[in-house]
Amino acid sequence: MDISGKVVLITGASMGIGRAAALRFAQAGARLALTARSVALLQEVAAEIRAAGGEVFTLSADLYAPDEARRVVTETLHHFGRLDILINNAGQAAAGDVERVSLEHFDRIMHLNVYAPLAAMQTAIPAMRAQGGGLVINVSSMVSKMHIPGLSAYAATKVALNMLTDTARGELAEEGIKVITVYPRLTSTGFGEHSLGNREERRRQREGTPQPVDTPEHVADRIYQAAVDEVDEMFMA
Ligand SMILES: NC(=O)c1ccc[n+]([C@@H]2O[C@H](COP(=O)([O-])OP(=O)(O)OC[C@H]3O[C@@H](n4cnc5c(N)ncnc54)[C@H](OP(=O)(O)O)[C@@H]3O)[C@@H](O)[C@H]2O)c1
Repeated sequence: MDISGKVVLITGASMGIGRAAALRFAQAGARLALTARSVALLQEVAAEIRAAGGEVFTLSADLYAPDEARRVVTETLHHFGRLDILINNAGQAAAGDVERVSLEHFDRIMHLNVYAPLAAMQTAIPAMRAQGGGLVINVSSMVSKMHIPGLSAYAATKVALNMLTDTARGELAEEGIKVITVYPRLTSTGFGEHSLGNREERRRQREGTPQPVDTPEHVADRIYQAAVDEVDEMFMA
């Protein structure tokens, strides 16, 4: 897909991978809708994009509530009149061994990592169908292909997201709507710090995982390339 002029909605765009992706797509001439909870950080990203001549619309939303995911898609459609690329990037981990992981934390990250992307897709798909096509990019994780002690709940949410994504790809293949999974590996963002769980659980989980290998800018480049090439899956190689 030629990204120039396309309307791209990115969740979790206030920092980390989502912020880097916003800047990457803006550089390519996309028109952006950016969402997260941190309004001040979103405004900083938006100001950087506008200073470079880009077009951007910001929406504050807490995606623990799937209704909010529906709202951000609806407001993006209302603002721009179309949605070409939906990037479900907002996500969070919950640290804790299987024996101890908090069901409340698991429930919260299920809402954010699975139900919110699903609700966003359910709202975007009819609009994409009506306009003749579109792309959905769901940001998963390599942990969904591994067994990392202390990260089972988080990995389980990403496995669920993978299955929704792979199934939607087949369901929508004949309709011009491409559904893509992106698999970041460990990336140098504040993600580990933002994980749910008590301090000791988060410390043990961080010590048990290797040092960051990728920058958020590299992951953003891979997300961008996935959109340009319309691949099924994108890894970080
Ligand atoms: N970093 C890694 O090592 C790594 C590896 C593999 C996959 N990933 C995946 O990559 C994606 C981005 O992660 P990241 O590393 O960029 O993490 P990050 O720096 O912690 O950023 C997470 C983003 O999600 C938003 N977010 C968190 N909770 C939210 C909520 N309840 N409602 C709305 N937005 C919310 C945050 O914004 P606010 O706090 O402002 O709401 C932020 O913009 C996630 O899906 C993650 O699972 C990351």
